[in-house]
Amino acid sequence: MFTLADLRIPVIAAPMAGGTSTPHLVVAVGHEGGLGFLAAGYKTPDVLERQIAAVRGDSRHPFGVNVFLPQAPPTDLAGVERYRRALEPAALARGVTLPPTRVDDDWFAEKVDLLVGLRVPVVSFTFGLPSADVVARLHSVGTSVVATVTSVDEAIQSESRGVDALCVQGPDAGGHRGTFNTSDKPESIPLPVLVAAVLDSVTLPIVAAGGIRSGEQIAELLAGGATAVQLGTAFLRTDESGAQHAHKDALADPRFTSTVITRAFSGRAARGLLNAFITEHDAGAPWAYPQVHHLTAVLRADAGRRGDPEGLALWAGTGYRSATAEPAADVLTRLWQEACA
Ligand SMILES: Cc1cc2nc3c(=O)[nH]c(=O)nc-3n(C[C@H](O)[C@H](O)[C@H](O)COP(=O)(O)O)c2cc1C
Repeated sequence: MFTLADLRIPVIAAPMAGGTSTPHLVVAVGHEGGLGFLAAGYKTPDVLERQIAAVRGDSRHPFGVNVFLPQAPPTDLAGVERYRRALEPAALARGVTLPPTRVDDDWFAEKVDLLVGLRVPVVSFTFGLPSADVVARLHSVGTSVVATVTSVDEAIQSESRGVDALCVQGPDAGGHRGTFNTSDKPESIPLPVLVAAVLDSVTLPIVAAGGIRSGEQIAELLAGGATAVQLGTAFLRTDESGAQHAHKDALADPRFTSTVITRAFSGRAARGLLNAFITEHDAGAPWAYPQVHHLTAVLRADAGRRGDPEGLALWAGTGYRSATAEPAADVLTRLWQEACA
């Protein structure tokens, strides 16, 4: 079974759903000695299967697949309807129709069946903990299982579920917070402090993630006991990243001066560049994932067609200004050389 200690370079390119994590990115990072991740979130099992085949067609290196846990039934449906009314003028102005409210489980069972069948080397979960049965099925085919956690309590729960490693996500991370509970307010314990607290509480190997932009930070986290680090934003602008051009450009655009945590796009806390959509809608957005995600999808798609960064979810960690436009292999080797120095 794959273990983090097997990596030549203990740097992981984070799973980034929404089109960013491509098979090319996974292959490039694996080839260079790190670990690449496909993001199963929002994808149909068919598309995921094709992406896994594409990675395997081009690489013999280990890779991971990240899966979203299904969410508890919505509690604030009235809030979702209020939010729909708040979004309607914008939808009308753009000539798009907001879809009816819907819930889904992101094909969780089908994806687990697929990953077990394909014996993927590493599977990580986010937004909750898989059942002991799912962990056992993955173990039975030699898959290493990683749980994403954002607190000591979630780390302890994950260890007792039998996972093999933890991805400890700190508050500076780009994209969604991996909290187990949709409505959890994000904690703000700095990543090195959170990693130390988790290491005091569990015996599992730890991957540290969130806001990492330099080799110095990587060296500090590894010296603090992390077995590997996971970076998302640092790979967003790479040649192999499938992020939209408007998103890539915004990361280097002086118009965008900060990141904030918002639930305006999805109903779940996530960090992204502050833009007009957040300014206008954050205050009215309910804690209701994935209902809000589905509700705003047509508006985000419309902004994407127009290349308008003010209407896109510009997910980014606090280190976004250090993200460079170059091959992923160059990002990985430069950061690792800095860390070793
Ligand atoms: C665009 C984007 C999409 C993301 N999608 C996922 C995802 O699908 N699954 C997941 O576990 N984490 C996701 N994350 C969070 C990353 O796993 C990781 O925690 C984060 O990128 C680390 O912080 P950094 O971006 O500051 O490096 C995403 C992050 C970004 C920036």
